[in-house]
Amino acid sequence: MANTATIEIDGKKYDFPLVKGTENEIAIDITKLRAATEGVITIDPGFKNTGSCESAITFLDGEKGILRYRGYSIDEVAENADFLEVAYLLIFGELPTKEQNDKFHEDIKAESYVDEDVKKIIEAFPKSAHPMGIISSLTSALTAFNPSSVNVESEEDMYKSVVRLLGKMPVLVAWTYRKKAGLPLDYGDNSLGYVENILKMMFKKPNGEYIQNKVLVDALDKLLILHADHEQNCSTSTVRIVGSSHAGLFASISAGISALWGPLHGGANQAVLEMLEAIQADGGDTKKYMAKAKDKNDPFRLMGFGHRVYKNFDPRARIIKKSADDVLSQLGIKEPILNIAEGLEQEALKDQYFVDRKLYPNVDFYSGIIYRAMGIPTDMFTVMFAIGRLPGWIAQWREMRLKKEPIGRPRQIYTGATERKFVPVDER
Ligand code: ACO
Repeated sequence: MANTATIEIDGKKYDFPLVKGTENEIAIDITKLRAATEGVITIDPGFKNTGSCESAITFLDGEKGILRYRGYSIDEVAENADFLEVAYLLIFGELPTKEQNDKFHEDIKAESYVDEDVKKIIEAFPKSAHPMGIISSLTSALTAFNPSSVNVESEEDMYKSVVRLLGKMPVLVAWTYRKKAGLPLDYGDNSLGYVENILKMMFKKPNGEYIQNKVLVDALDKLLILHADHEQNCSTSTVRIVGSSHAGLFASISAGISALWGPLHGGANQAVLEMLEAIQADGGDTKKYMAKAKDKNDPFRLMGFGHRVYKNFDPRARIIKKSADDVLSQLGIKEPILNIAEGLEQEALKDQYFVDRKLYPNVDFYSGIIYRAMGIPTDMFTVMFAIGRLPGWIAQWREMRLKKEPIGRPRQIYTGATERKFVPVDER
């Protein structure tokens, strides 16, 4: 295969090198395009054909439904590792040794508290605040409580920031939930594992013990692993682009949380449940909503279906569907909205519109069902996703900084008015 791609503009030819990844993906390197052509740029809204970086963290092949973290298949990782092992793998590149793993757990536990003054910030939010807005603000506020910047070239500095963020984030999440639920803000229990601690911190009542349920602990651990990284998605690209201005790690991650909030991205898990509830309230007629989803004059989309890169199936969805089935059957939960979910899935899988456009249930179609079974309120679903995505954001931020990537600054094709004379207000 050739090593270059040729672009012809106005009869003039320009050669650009091809870049090949370890999985044989090919890109045209256009870094010299503007200079060589004296101003021509590419345009690609939504970046559907644009690689923003070279990355060694996560590989996915949307056509074949492959997802691998640092070379390990998502199925193998979800089956054998726990969330913190996966976090270590993503951020530092290799699975931790037993010693590294134990130390990582201990160091994260040692950071699992936040400054008491954070309570004052939480107090100031109105009851109507969405938890994603609170978490994004609190993550940014961590900078104020931990003002020293992270030197990415210092292994020690980087490690400290990683354990700090992984330690503190569950406290912020639990407090956000507890404040809204009217529960006292409290700390976790360092004798517990990471995921058990998250559940206890969130749900422990002030007047009783919290009894762990292994089915829920395992399901949440798996959900966090499945969400841990997904290469250059909207929130990760946001983290990288904000970080490319050398904004700090916490500020960059806070921006990523805001990006994740949107219903076309992480907010889809909340949107799925709200959609199922709306269909139920409207009589449970799934066919009516299938028709709405296909009607081009109707803005309604079937939330939890479709994916920018998976055009075959979402490998995470298969794992999580099984997890959802296990949780529901082991907890003996039977809810009408789950029948609606089942009905939509069955109809969509054989519907020509969905088949032609390769629209399959994505991970968020099922994750909301598990969160709901855990007793997590709908508006906290995306916050749980954010805990899962944290290692990916950190890994991608670190990679971007270590590679000394330039500041992210796309160009545009201007389509506005050409130069015109200013008219004073009383003459308009
Ligand atoms: N329901 C109905 N039609 C859909 C849906 C859907 N959920 N998703 C895509 N389509 C249709 C589009 O209308 C379009 O049809 P057309 O070709 O006739 O115009 C076609 O399928 C292609 O859709 P695009 O929007 O071009 O696909 P894109 O890759 O840009 O969008 C996205 C992907 C945003 C995920 C989209 O499928 C969607 O909105 N899904 C629902 C929201 C959702 O579940 N998001 C979670 C994503 S996973 C995650 O972030 C973890």
